[in-house]
Parts: sequence; C-alpha cells; structure tokens
Amino acid sequence: MFRVRVNTSSKAYDIEIETGLFKKLPQLFRSRYQGRRMALISDDRVFALYGEKFFRKLREQGFDAIAVTFPERQKNLRTLERIYNALADASFTRSDYVIALGGGVTGDMAGLAAATFLRGMGFILIPTTLLAMVDSSIGGKVAVDMDQGKNLIGAFYQPDAVYTDPGLLTTLDNRCFSDGMAELIKQSVIRDKDLFYFIETSENRSGLTGQLDEIIGESCRLKAAIVEQDERDTGLRQILNFGHTIGHAIEKVQNYQGLTHGEAVSVGMIFITRITERLGLTRPGTLQRLEGILKSFDLPVTMPPVDRTELAQAIRIDKKSRSGFITVAYLREIGECDLIGWSFEELEEHLFAQLEN
Ligand SMILES: NC(=O)c1ccc[n+]([C@@H]2O[C@H](COP(=O)([O-])OP(=O)(O)OC[C@H]3O[C@@H](n4cnc5c(N)ncnc54)[C@H](O)[C@@H]3O)[C@@H](O)[C@H]2O)c1
Repeated sequence: MFRVRVNTSSKAYDIEIETGLFKKLPQLFRSRYQGRRMALISDDRVFALYGEKFFRKLREQGFDAIAVTFPERQKNLRTLERIYNALADASFTRSDYVIALGGGVTGDMAGLAAATFLRGMGFILIPTTLLAMVDSSIGGKVAVDMDQGKNLIGAFYQPDAVYTDPGLLTTLDNRCFSDGMAELIKQSVIRDKDLFYFIETSENRSGLTGQLDEIIGESCRLKAAIVEQDERDTGLRQILNFGHTIGHAIEKVQNYQGLTHGEAVSVGMIFITRITERLGLTRPGTLQRLEGILKSFDLPVTMPPVDRTELAQAIRIDKKSRSGFITVAYLREIGECDLIGWSFEELEEHLFAQLEN
C-alpha cells in the first residue's frame, strides 16, 4: 500500500494506492464512516462496471446510500442539478458524503456538488481512469463545463480521502490509458528524472504491469508536493501546464472533436521543447527522449492538420495570455522545468518557425 499525505491549508488527507483496494472499501468505510450517509456518483459505464456492485455492498454494510448516475462525459449544469436534487430529496446533511466513483468528469462534477451543497459536505474520490488517478483527483480543482467553455464554473475543494485501485484500469481502453500516460509522463519529465527513466524503460502499457501502484504513487507524490506549495494555482503550479498552452489551443481549434486532451498535450510538449531546444534553453537530446517515450505509449508527436492562424488565435484568447504575455513552462532537461515569459508575438514567431520545419 502506498500512502501519499496531502497537506493543504484547507484540509489534510491521504491518497491510498493499492491494487485490490476497491474490493475492501465497503468494509473499510464501515470502520471509517459509520453512521454517515453516502451519495455514490458515477457515469453509466462505470456504474455498470463497478458501481452497481459497490452500491449493493455499501448497503450490506449498513450504509444509508443513494446512487446518482449520468450519461458519459456529461460534465455540465444539467447533471449537476440532478445531483443537487437527489441530495436534497434524500435530505443529505453536511456531515454526509458524496463519493465520486469514476474518471475526471465524475470527480470534477461530484466535487463541485460536494463543495456547494449546503456550502460543503464530505467528499471521497475513487478514481477509475489513469488521468483521474495521477492528475484530477489531486489538487482540489472541481468544476463543470458550459457550452461557452470548459471548467467555467468551479471551485477549489479538497477531498477528505482518495482511494486509488490501479486494478480498476484493466477495463480501460488503450486510448484512455494513453491519455492518462500523457499527464504521467509530463509530471515525471518536469520533476523526476528517475520516474521518467522508470517509465521509459517499461516501454509500453504491458511493460507497466505490476509497476502501476509504484508509478501512480510516485506521480501522486509529485503533484501533491506542487499543490501543497501553490494550492490556488498562482505560481509554482504553472509548471504543471507544461505542454498545455499549445495543447489547449489544438483542442479548441479542433472543437474538442479531434485529439483527446492527453494527445493534444503530447503534441504541445513536443512543440514547446522543439522551440526551447533550438533556442538553447533545453539540453540537447531532451526532445529526442521525450519523443521516444510519448511514441511508445501511442501518443502523437506531430501537429494535426490545423490552421496556424486559428491556432495562434486560440493561444491568444487562452486565459493565460490575458496581459499579452504568456507564461510558458519548458524543460531545462529531463526532470527539470522552468517558467519563461514571452509576448504573444514571440511565441507565435517561435511556433510558426517550428510548424514550417
Ligand atoms: N480537476 C483537475 O485538476 C483536472 C485535471 C485534469 C483533467 N480534469 C478533467 O477530467 C476530465 C477528463 O477525465 P477522464 O479522462 O478521466 O474522463 P472521463 O471521466 O469521462 O472518463 C473517460 C471514459 O472512461 C470511462 N471509464 C472510466 N473509468 C473506467 C474504467 N475503469 N474502465 C472502463 N472505462 C472507464 C468513462 O465511462 C468515460 O467514458 C475532463 O473533464 C477534465 O476537465 C480535471
């Protein structure tokens, strides 16, 4: 069992990571949360795979529990309202718990419900995608999307506990797994060269078999350390945006119908490193290793066909470029990252030069 303690100004809690943990949870919950009511939130797919049985077991352990399910990827106000209604109809109180069983969509939305219903109730995360295990379940960012943009309504709300069972990933499809690998590779390449090497030598998904508890544990430790120093995302946490400035722009230009988030970040990491290696800011050879590891996990390293003017425009309207300057995270070498401020025109010039290569 790996245990990562997260100390934030609002809450201190543990992330417990162990293959096989999920099966033990109903009984464990009885010893930890007896007498509390539980609202289990899952999308339809995860509920069918894991939620239904888990819900039954919770009730067998004597919990007064309700379940709220929703169609996949519906992280919006309509689903949030359904959760509020279910909590209100069942007269949930502040000492009761919302349990998010699912990926980042479920965690973000259930977290926002927990943060706002009665101005804050108990919140437990059971992440079921790799992305949720290494990224969205750490740091307390909770939100829903609007038609006008992603994550527009949100809050910072830390969970009371995170229970991570890498065994649940066996049912995850390869594309979704690779999506999470993009974030995992990003965390290692900005902060931990040993973890990067460990992943690099594992080569592919099957090479990670038996290593996931450790890798996910290390990755949680890295993100937790950054979040602890910058809970509200005003400074150090910006290094987690490595690859995201260009990545977000690709997603936007493709109207969120093209590359997945992880795939877009993969291309973003490559392009920013191509720029900074050429400028002499990044140690030579870094790009090659980054390309190698991303490719081995089936992540793209070339720009999809997008209009470069639209791409530049999308970067300009990204929230990080409001002042005309963009803070960009870049690699000094594998395992070391820094921030640099560029005017929008500078970034555009560097990017266009790389797109022509
Ligand atoms: N809060 C944060 O800090 C943060 C960070 C990164 C991303 N996010 C958010 O996370 C969301 C993306 O998360 P995601 O990629 O986990 O998406 P998701 O929750 O939609 O899950 C992806 C798909 O995988 C399925 N699935 C989940 N677990 C499964 C399993 N074990 N086996 C089989 N299928 C399974 C789901 O049903 C869904 O269809 C986005 O909304 C993004 O904004 C939040």
